[in-house]
Amino acid sequence: MDYKKQKFSRRNFLALGAGIGIAASLKNKTAWAGAFPEQEEFSFAVIADPHCAEEPKNGMEHLGNGVDKLLRCFDVMKSLPADERPDFILIAGDIHSAALAPHLEKISLPVHAVAGNHEGNPEARGLLRKMFPDDFGVGENIRDYYSFVHKGVRFIGLCDAGTGGEHVGQFSSELITPFGQCDWFEQQLALPELRKVVFAHIPPVMDGGDRNMYMSRNDSRWFLETVTNTPPEMLFFGHLHQETETYPIGNAKAVNLRSCCWNFNKVAIGFMLVKVTREGMTSREIITGEYKG
Ligand SMILES: [Fe+2]
Repeated sequence: MDYKKQKFSRRNFLALGAGIGIAASLKNKTAWAGAFPEQEEFSFAVIADPHCAEEPKNGMEHLGNGVDKLLRCFDVMKSLPADERPDFILIAGDIHSAALAPHLEKISLPVHAVAGNHEGNPEARGLLRKMFPDDFGVGENIRDYYSFVHKGVRFIGLCDAGTGGEHVGQFSSELITPFGQCDWFEQQLALPELRKVVFAHIPPVMDGGDRNMYMSRNDSRWFLETVTNTPPEMLFFGHLHQETETYPIGNAKAVNLRSCCWNFNKVAIGFMLVKVTREGMTSREIITGEYKG
């Protein structure tokens, strides 16, 4: 398949509001054609690149450091109406595990995280695994990629961040445990649940090229073909620190999500709320802070 011919639609479904958690935004339904009459409706949230160890940024001093900005997301979630409050949160990498660890008990909502390139050394990766043992396992059963099922929907967390903080994504590395992630992912997408969601840190490259900040050329080609042949409903990635963009991969809807800590070009920070309905998935962004000046 020539992925260069796929329509790369950039959609800003955001209407900025002033202050914390102003959630006025456009709703955006997935292109999923089916209906799921048995689905128990729920919401989940996705957070990208919290970069917890970072000091306050120029123009964002009023928002505090990385931990402050991440915890603010959870405060906003708690303030949402009950029918919008997420059941859990996906964090799509670049967490800075050592900086978050002392504050973990302040987070009352369940979190499912995957590693980013900032968890690209054995110490940071090891601490991340220890912080979320239900997903990453313990002892001989450590795994950097995993899945879980929530109300009939399978969530698949992938690890495409290898050793050394490399900004190019890969699915096989001495730091990704165990080997065999590609085979595992193909098996996961073939499991019987009708609805699946994928999340990882580094997004695929859509034009078939060899680029920094995306999965490697060959990893991308395998990934796009696999997703196209056995589509999940939605996919979420972080890593780019840009305004959120959505694009199709076959019948699936992919999202490259803005960071909740900082973004290039003074783009506001925030997270995404996704509602799983009987008809599809609707998503909207919630802005948690803006640059001044
Ligand atoms: Fe990253």
